[in-house]
Amino acid sequence: MRTRHVVGLVFLSILSLAFLWRHHIRDLSEVTRTYSVFHKYLRRNQDVLVRFSTQLQSSEANDITLPDSVPQIIHQIFLSNGRPNSTLAKYDPAIKSCQALHPGWTFKMWTDTNATDFIAEFYPDILPHYTGYKQNIQRANILRYALLHHFGGVYLDLDVTCLAALDEPLSKGSDRSLTHLPWVTPGAYPAGVNNAFILSRPGHPFLAELLGRVPSRDLPWPMPYVENMLSTGCMYFSNVWMSYALRLEREWRNPGVRKEDRVYILADENGSMDPHMLRGKITTPLFAHGGASSWHGWDAAMIVMIGKHYGYFALGLASLVASIVLAAWKLSRRSKSRRRSSWRSAVSRLSLDRRSLEKHSLLQDEEQGLAKNG
Ligand SMILES: *[C@@H]1O[C@H](CO)[C@@H](O)[C@H](O)[C@H]1NC(C)=O
Ligand SMILES: *[C@@H]1O[C@H](CO)[C@@H](O)[C@H](O)[C@H]1NC(C)=O
Ligand SMILES: *[C@@H]1O[C@H](CO)[C@@H](O)[C@H](O)[C@H]1NC(C)=O
Repeated sequence: MRTRHVVGLVFLSILSLAFLWRHHIRDLSEVTRTYSVFHKYLRRNQDVLVRFSTQLQSSEANDITLPDSVPQIIHQIFLSNGRPNSTLAKYDPAIKSCQALHPGWTFKMWTDTNATDFIAEFYPDILPHYTGYKQNIQRANILRYALLHHFGGVYLDLDVTCLAALDEPLSKGSDRSLTHLPWVTPGAYPAGVNNAFILSRPGHPFLAELLGRVPSRDLPWPMPYVENMLSTGCMYFSNVWMSYALRLEREWRNPGVRKEDRVYILADENGSMDPHMLRGKITTPLFAHGGASSWHGWDAAMIVMIGKHYGYFALGLASLVASIVLAAWKLSRRSKSRRRSSWRSAVSRLSLDRRSLEKHSLLQDEEQGLAKNG
């Protein structure tokens, strides 16, 4: 096979792979954007951080709170899918701790049947994706977004122990608490937001956007952890958060944008998100987190590593692509110059032939002329 055929084939396969995987490429580029933009965004928008501390209570949060509290409901999810229900008993102390600190609140435990019924009744567009997901954790992710969009209130992972009441006043004598914010989540490491604890008013436009993008993100990925993260989980959550927050930032001066539509991240009194992050086995001002991420596998470790050394990873990927393109370009140049030289020789051969032909015919003419004259 000629070199130019090989080069053409390589280009064609790269193009068709890029086309075939365009949705996957889109999702990965969103991760890139979240990682590169998140902290810059926070530096520009310090008011997104709710400076919350149970010791030194802040009064600054008063001007971002709303007059009405979110509904006093705590939603929790237990999708057993055949697991024995003794597993739920393991979470009893954590659940009881939250109930003790929120005496007037409603607690809703969503399990297999009533969770599916809820999605079928209120979010029928999402139902085929909800039932089609390979992993329960994907269903649990989508379900919490839908529950909060429909009912509002608070979502809590089962392994979260409550250490403080969410409706405690933000400062002494204030009638406002965290529950008067339209939306709160902890931050995530190394960038983005976490969905183990979400507080939201019902019908928050961010949740509408999050649910609206669900069908287009329901893609197969080679690793289960990646598939969950990018289709429904923390990375998906963070990517949509980033694009929502950036749009809100651009449109903030527009008259249609309301205080109720904003999204906030928990921070300490100095504006640091770290003390509130729910990662691993950890105690934050509001919660103790069990770190029982039973669905984490070998691929999780890899993703965390890529996330941590994100710059090197991106650099490596970019140089790989660049070297492939460069190699293809060099090959194509070589084959083109070879083609050009062979063409040139063909032309010269042709013109030589023509010249000899002309000469020949001239001789013939001359001969003929001579013959005529003679
Ligand atoms: C699950 O718990 C319920 C009551 O809490 C009980 O009736 C049922 O038998 C249990 N099922 C299994 C499979 O353990
Ligand atoms: C869902 O079903 C479970 C098991 O029957 C029940 O314990 C739970 O209260 C139900 N949840 C809601 C929100 O109805
Ligand atoms: C916040 O900053 C002040 C002043 O720098 C410091 O004294 C305090 O310990 C900080 N708080 C936290 C939780 O880091």
